Formats: sequence, C-alpha cells, structure tokens
Amino acid sequence: MLVLGIETSCDETAAALVDDTRAIRGELVASQLDEHRKFGGVVPEVAARAHLDLLDAIVREVMQRAGLTFADLDVVAATGGPGLIGGVLVGVTTAKAIALAAGKKFVAVNHLEAHALTARLTDDVQFPYLLLLVSGGHCQLLVVEGVGQYRRWGTTIDDAAGEAFDKSAKLLGLGYPGGPALEAAAKLGDPTRFPLPRSMVGKPGCDFSFSGLKTAVRTAIEKAGAHDLPDLAASAQAAIAEQLADRTARAAKRFTQEYPAGKQLVVAGGVAANATVRARLAAVAAKHGLDFVAPPPRLCTDNATMVAWAGLERARLNMFDGLDFAPRPRWPL
Ligand code: KG4
Ligand code: ZN
Repeated sequence: MLVLGIETSCDETAAALVDDTRAIRGELVASQLDEHRKFGGVVPEVAARAHLDLLDAIVREVMQRAGLTFADLDVVAATGGPGLIGGVLVGVTTAKAIALAAGKKFVAVNHLEAHALTARLTDDVQFPYLLLLVSGGHCQLLVVEGVGQYRRWGTTIDDAAGEAFDKSAKLLGLGYPGGPALEAAAKLGDPTRFPLPRSMVGKPGCDFSFSGLKTAVRTAIEKAGAHDLPDLAASAQAAIAEQLADRTARAAKRFTQEYPAGKQLVVAGGVAANATVRARLAAVAAKHGLDFVAPPPRLCTDNATMVAWAGLERARLNMFDGLDFAPRPRWPL
C-alpha cells in the first residue's frame, strides 16, 4: 500500500510518500518562515495563500523524485484539521482532487493523530503507549490504545509548551520561531541562574500550566542585562522541561498500574525536537521501567510523512473518508 500525505495546517507546506513496509519513499517540506518572520508569527491569510502557491509544485516534485505517478498510489491523505482553516482547505481540496482524478481512496487525517502515530513509523511501538504530545497549540498526556482510540489524562489549562517556548523567546528578543532559537541561545547558559516558576510541579493530576512562566520571564528580563541572555534562555528551558517531566512522571506511574501490557513512553510534536526535553523524558521513562521513543526531530515538527503514515494506519483499518469531508478548524482527539 502506497500513501501520499499532504500537510498544510500551519506554516509548513509538505508532501510525502509512505508505504506499508514503513519505507518513506519521498518527503518534502517547504517552510514559510521568511514570509511570517516579519510579522513575528504565523499570519493565517498569508499562510493560506502561500500553501496555494507552493503545494502543487511540492506534490509534483515528491512524486517525480520517487519516480511515481498518481496511478501508483492507493490512498491520498491530507490533514483535515485542527489548524488554520484556510491552509487546511487548500490541502484537503488538493488531496480530494488527486483522489477523484486518479480513482484513489481519500483519508482526512487529524493532525494530532498524525503526531501521535509517528513513532509507530520510526520505531516498533505497540498499543497501548503513553504519549506526551507537545506542540505549538497542544500540550497533552494521552494513552494511545489504538488508531482513533485515545484517553486524555492531562492537558494545559492555559498555554501549550510550544507557546511557552515561543513567548519566552519573543520576550528575549530571539525572534520567530521561538523554540529552536531559545534552545540554541540556552546552549551556553546556566539553567539554575534564574529560579523561574515550575507551575503544577508536585500537584495531583497530569495538567499543565505555563502562563506564570511568561510573566516571570518578563520580570527577570527587566532586572537582567544583555549578557544574561544565555542564562535566561537556559533557565526558561529548564523550567518548561521540568514541568513536562514532572507531569509525565505522574502519568507514567498511573500508566504502569492501569496498563501493565504497556511498555513505551512516546513524545511527539514540535517541542519533542528539544534535546533537553528529550533527556528529561528519557530519565522519566527509565525510572518507570518504560522504553522511551522519540521520533527524529524532523518528524517531530510539522511534516507530511506523519500524515501519510496516519493515513496508512487508517486505510489498513478501512477508515476512509468521503469527498464530502468538511475541514475542521477544531478537532479534539
Ligand atoms: O508540531 P509543530 O511543528 O506545530 C504545531 O502543530 O503546533 O510545533 C511547533 C512548536 C512551536 O511552538 C516551536 O517553537 C516548537 O514546536 N519547537 C521547539 C523546538 N522546535 C520546535 N520547541 C523547543 N525546542 C525546539 N528545538
Ligand atoms: Zn503539529
């Protein structure tokens, strides 16, 4: 089975080909960074127009490089939400057109499910597994029981972890996108220098909160000098990573009790590209006797390979969508 995946829900225009031997037959990501940087964030209208400009060429290129035509496909999958609706519309409409013209099946993929299932493409991950899903818009702890079967144990009560990175980076003048910039700035910094708040740490449950961190970073900056930037970045990163580790440790404890057959802790989403976060989570997994699985960073941030793979997982279970599928700006797992 060969699946073409399309991702257009935020600021990456991407297409990829994945088959049922778990081989990635092609992948391309065109980032719109330069177009959004001057605005300090993603502008939905600008993103939608850029997807429209880029997507045809990206799809054509990925097919050509793989030496394949639409006739070789079995399934066309596109992110159907959640995300910026203008972009999702472009991707879904393109996928439907290809499916219709080539007589192939169509799958509308939930972007969160695509992140959630990526580890099953890159590693031997079996259901059920514990998942920390940390991206720019989401911060959740879930048990993945199967395709389309999720139990949410925790979520953020305010900002997502990626937002905490992005907002801290913005306050520090590191520009956009904030996560990778903050990680780079933190490299030479002392993470213990500024005692920033670890909201929720030690509290019951598995929920997250990051809004206090933003306020504390702002206050710290007012007192600090320009030469303190690496220490501030490292301290912010440490505060975020510690909260993620604490909440995940609670979930891991519960997971090992309630799901004795479960053996793996998986991290997914853009923030999973962060080395400090990965190291903290690896330690949590080891402490609770779980294997830690993190996809390679390029498959943690938005990409179409994960969409093609989620489409393939759904197709194997005959979970197809009709061409009347309507894009969903909001679509909880
Ligand atoms: O999954 P993703 O690419 O898009 C969404 O679905 O949101 O996640 C983007 C988020 C952004 O907030 C970005 O700053 C963050 O992931 N991110 C990182 C890193 N790379 C991306 N955060 C921390 N460290 C990184 N290396
Ligand atoms: Zn994402």
